[in-house]
Amino acid sequence: MQDTRLGVNIDHVATLRQARGTTYPDPVAAAVMAELGGADQITIHLREDRRHIQDRDLRIIRETLQTRLNLEMAPTKEMSKIAYQYKPDMATLVPEKREELTTEGGLDVAMHRDTIKETVRFLKDGDIKVSLFIDPDIDQVRAAHKVGADAVELHTGTFCDAKSQAIRDAEFERLLNAAKTCSKIGLPVFAGHGLNLNNIAPVAAIREITEFNIGHSIIAHAVFVGLERAVREMKTAIVEARRQG
Ligand code: PXP
Repeated sequence: MQDTRLGVNIDHVATLRQARGTTYPDPVAAAVMAELGGADQITIHLREDRRHIQDRDLRIIRETLQTRLNLEMAPTKEMSKIAYQYKPDMATLVPEKREELTTEGGLDVAMHRDTIKETVRFLKDGDIKVSLFIDPDIDQVRAAHKVGADAVELHTGTFCDAKSQAIRDAEFERLLNAAKTCSKIGLPVFAGHGLNLNNIAPVAAIREITEFNIGHSIIAHAVFVGLERAVREMKTAIVEARRQG
């Protein structure tokens, strides 16, 4: 039985469209192709500056999706109201800075406890499950649990970008420890950021992690092999790593 989900983040399809202000490529079509390739979930980030995904994308994807919708969003009142309207299967709260290229770090849950707690409560009142995107840090895991999150997504970026084996090993230990802590306290644990076909195996082998959200590398690979195949190759890599791990 499948014990893991692959969430495919299709923001970069929208990035390509917005670069020229065209109507193509359409992330709605990308969601269909990703599902055909075996995606268990579609992940989109509606940013406050609307630099890639637009409200129209969220609306149509919500109406047409066959699998699950994971909406990444900043913990703001505007985004919470939008989530309330479209009812994603999961809302993932992420930190957002206008000047960043992509989500650069995890949420500092302890530091922004009141805002995050209020957002979590608001979304849960609307029957929306809430995950918090955090660094693989035990204090952040505990803080996420305390504010009532349904799950956490561990930021794998530092592990993926490690420039030496020593840093890589240390980062892997942090991921493993954070995942085990989640499991001990009964908090579902996911992972994402910077994952690609070359680095997915050790992370996918961590049994406690039950969902992987992957965007850039899949969309980049799709330029050469097509989206359906790019998704299928990632799904196979995850399943294979878990079978062996
Ligand atoms: N998970 C979260 C919370 C993210 O913010 C992102 C980037 O949008 C991803 C996963 C996917 O990261 P990548 O595009 O590097 O695969």
